[in-house]
Amino acid sequence: MKNIIFVAPPAAGKGTYSSVLEKKFNYVHISTGDLLRDARKREDELGKKITLLMDSGKLVTDDIVLELLKQKLESLDSNDRIILDGFPRNVNQAKVLDDMFNSLGMIDYEVIYLEIDKESALKRTLGRLVCPKCKSSYNEFNEEMKPKVDNTCDNCGTLLEKRSDDTKETFEIRFDTYMSETKPVLDYYEEKGKLHSVSSLDGIETVLKNLEGVING
Ligand code: AP5
Ligand code: MG
Repeated sequence: MKNIIFVAPPAAGKGTYSSVLEKKFNYVHISTGDLLRDARKREDELGKKITLLMDSGKLVTDDIVLELLKQKLESLDSNDRIILDGFPRNVNQAKVLDDMFNSLGMIDYEVIYLEIDKESALKRTLGRLVCPKCKSSYNEFNEEMKPKVDNTCDNCGTLLEKRSDDTKETFEIRFDTYMSETKPVLDYYEEKGKLHSVSSLDGIETVLKNLEGVING
C-alpha cells in the first residue's frame, strides 16, 4: 500500500475519506488539524497561540506544525503506511516533508487533490458536526452523512460538536489561505509526477472507488 497525501480546500472531505481508508486498509491517519486541536486543549502558551491562529483561519506557523508532525512520525512502526490529511499546506512544508520521507525511507507515496468548489465547501462547513473524541465528521445537511442518532457519534456515542472555525467568516479566510498558500503545493507535486485529482462532489461510494483506484494503481 502506498502512503497517501491529501491536499485539498477546507471541507473537501480529507478527514472523512482518510477515516474510511484507515479502517479499510489499516492506514495510520495523521491529520495536522486534529493534532493542533488536541494541542490547543492544553490551554498553555502554545495552546493559546494555536487557538488564535486556527480561529482566524490562517495557517499555524511551520515550526509548531512540524514539531507536532515530527513527534507523530517518530512514533510509527517501520511497516506503517500513512495518510497525511492537511499537510503539507505550503511549499516550505512540502520541501521539509521530502527530507522527512527520505530519512524515514518513505519513498512510495501519491498525492490526491480532492476537488470541490467554494460554494459546496462552504455548505459542508456550515453543516459539519465533529466528534471531539474519535474525530469522526458528520453533516446535518446531507442524508448520507447524518449521524444515526441526532448529535451523537455513531462510532463512540460521544456528543457531537461544531468546530469553532466553521463559521462563514472564518471559512472565507481559510479558503483564501488555501488559494494563496496551499494551491501552489499542487503544482509542486504535479512537477514530480505525483498528483492525482479526484472529484469530491460525487456520492461517497464513487469517491471511494476513485480513491482506491489511485491507491492500488
Ligand atoms: P483542518 O482541520 O485540516 O481543516 P481544513 O483543511 O480546513 O479541512 P477540514 O477539516 O475543514 O475539511 P476536510 O477536508 O477534512 O473535510 P471533512 O472530511 O471534515 O485545519 C484546520 C486549521 O488548522 C487550519 O485552518 C490551520 O489553521 C491549521 N492547520 C492544519 N494543518 C496545518 C498545517 N499543515 N500547517 C499550518 N496550519 C495548519 O468533510 C467536510 C464535511 O463534508 C463533513 O461534514 C462531511 O460529513 C461532509 N462530506 C464529506 N464528503 C462528502 C460528500 N462526498 N458529500 C457530501 N458531504 C460530504
Ligand atoms: Mg479535516
